[in-house]
Amino acid sequence: MARCLVAGCGYVGTALAVMLRDAGHRVFGLKRRPAGLPEGVTPLAADLADANSLAAALARIEAPLDVVVYAAAADHGDDAAYRRAYVDGLRNLVAALHARDATPAGVFFTSSTAVYAQDDGSWVDESSPTEPGDFRGGRMLEAEAVLAASGFPAVSLRLGGIYGPGRTRLVESVRSGRATLRTGPPHFGNRIHRDDAAGALAHLASLAISGRALASLYLGWIASQLGMPEPAARDGEPAVGARDANRAASNKRCSNARLRATGYRFRFPTFREGYTEAIAATTSR
Ligand SMILES: NC(=O)c1ccc[n+]([C@@H]2O[C@H](COP(=O)([O-])OP(=O)(O)OC[C@H]3O[C@@H](n4cnc5c(N)ncnc54)[C@H](OP(=O)(O)O)[C@@H]3O)[C@@H](O)[C@H]2O)c1
Repeated sequence: MARCLVAGCGYVGTALAVMLRDAGHRVFGLKRRPAGLPEGVTPLAADLADANSLAAALARIEAPLDVVVYAAAADHGDDAAYRRAYVDGLRNLVAALHARDATPAGVFFTSSTAVYAQDDGSWVDESSPTEPGDFRGGRMLEAEAVLAASGFPAVSLRLGGIYGPGRTRLVESVRSGRATLRTGPPHFGNRIHRDDAAGALAHLASLAISGRALASLYLGWIASQLGMPEPAARDGEPAVGARDANRAASNKRCSNARLRATGYRFRFPTFREGYTEAIAATTSR
């Protein structure tokens, strides 16, 4: 039994915490408002951006930590919120782990595809250039660098857009008629089901616990295998997949080959399986 800390125990983090718990591990779920975390996940209330609050929460964990996952997300879409959530929070967590002389087998960070500026439909992988066009990808890269310099066995998992139960914006936009099919050359998006984001993290964590050396970087996506066309915007509405009207929808194909080479098998290997499940969930409401 390993002792695992999920810092930022939200949509992905909670699914991960449940997987780790079900695998027989002791799991701590940290967030600012931890009420309602699943049974068997020990709640810890702390603000990752506040070093004192974090130190007080971690003091409640007496035994050494074997796995640490940083899955907190920004509250807002501005640079200050991104810096606080990703860079400051991760830096504080690394410092707090060093302060307790922690020797985890792995420390993981849920990074993002936003680190890539490629928008010409080309393939990207872990070795592709990262020249993010705005602060979102820039802050993610900064956080990755904080983790890489931490001295811990560190892994950043760059995730595509996460969908799954309760996160079916694409389905809803098609159903409501807002989305129209994009014409012209194919346009590629990259998405991952929540249970594959959590599943990949649980898989990598179990490899780290068993002593296997991991790469410092993995890409986690599914659409790369098929190249999912994104519905286009209509009448000036933001395109599905774009977060706001000022950001173009991305257009790249991401290779998850390195992740699959570790032995991870996607539960929802293409968007067809994943969205079939998501559509079934929304129609059965
Ligand atoms: N969503 C996507 O499409 C996507 C794509 C690529 C990468 N990612 C990354 O994947 C990770 C997980 O995303 P998600 O969708 O699971 O996020 P989420 O549901 O918003 O969960 C994030 C959790 O972090 C906690 N949190 C935020 N700020 C915190 C702080 N200062 N201190 C302590 N806890 C804090 C929040 O709980 P409290 O409010 O209670 O603190 C929340 O439960 C994030 O790192 C995100 O950037 C997401």
